[in-house]
Amino acid sequence: MKKLFAAFVFAALPALAMGAVSNYPLDKVDIDLRDKAALQDGARTFANYCMGCHAAQYQRYERVADDLGIPHEIMLDNLVFNDAKIGDHMKIGMRPDDAKAWFGAAPPDLTLVARVRGNDWLYTYLRTFYDDPSRPLGANNKVFPNVGMPNVLVSLQGKQVIGCKQVQVVTDGKKQFDPLTGAPITHEACDQLTVEPNTGKLSEAEFDEKIKNLVTFLAYSANPVKLKSQRIGTYVLLYLAFFFVFAYLLKREYWKDVH
Ligand code: HEC
Repeated sequence: MKKLFAAFVFAALPALAMGAVSNYPLDKVDIDLRDKAALQDGARTFANYCMGCHAAQYQRYERVADDLGIPHEIMLDNLVFNDAKIGDHMKIGMRPDDAKAWFGAAPPDLTLVARVRGNDWLYTYLRTFYDDPSRPLGANNKVFPNVGMPNVLVSLQGKQVIGCKQVQVVTDGKKQFDPLTGAPITHEACDQLTVEPNTGKLSEAEFDEKIKNLVTFLAYSANPVKLKSQRIGTYVLLYLAFFFVFAYLLKREYWKDVH
């Protein structure tokens, strides 16, 4: 019985470490770590909208600039808002104790967040903030219920509200249409997110793209050597294939008199 209990506790630990858990279905995002333009756009969004509260202190500005193809001057002028030097870690001035008092929880460092949460989680999290007057900062989140973070991208996305609306019926993964008129078959569903028109600077598609770029940057940041290791891996496999030929010939030579 004790063992069972221990097993249960250990099984639940990751969930505890992740904070509030929700079963909101995650939207899939397909990122490309080789897309420099996406990475640069993501880095810009990160510096402008996230680094007020979150650091990326295991990463240096210089490394990011070099990996993403941003000249150092431009990096310093557009992405560094304190007196940090190009070789410094991406730290911020906010003190964790103050942050805890203001938001109820200190904003965690985001250098490695993509490894902890995964890209799909981040992509969905950053797009599912909605108005909730019952929360101290007026916002709530679908994948992170009762989150302490305010809705910092509201000016881009617009005001997102939750409520009932008509949504298309989907059976077995297929959207359903009326066979006679061709019109989509809908039903009323509640707990649905809607962005109020013309309340944000970006259209829905543009906002999704922005967040995709931001997630691309966070995924790069969590594993900056990934592309390099994939390239080296290819060389290693090619070398092994090449070496195999000689190893095989040598083996034939050694064994040719043994019958
Ligand atoms: C005004 C301060 C503030 C800003 C700006 C801000 N955040 Fe946060 N963020 C927080 C706080 C506070 C938390 C902790 C929430 C909690 O634990 O309830 C948080 C939590 C998070 C988490 C969840 C981390 C985890 O694994 O628990 C992610 C991811 C995140 N923020 C990403 C971002 C991104 C990306 C941006 C920029 C678009 C951003 N944040 C901008 C305050 C902020």
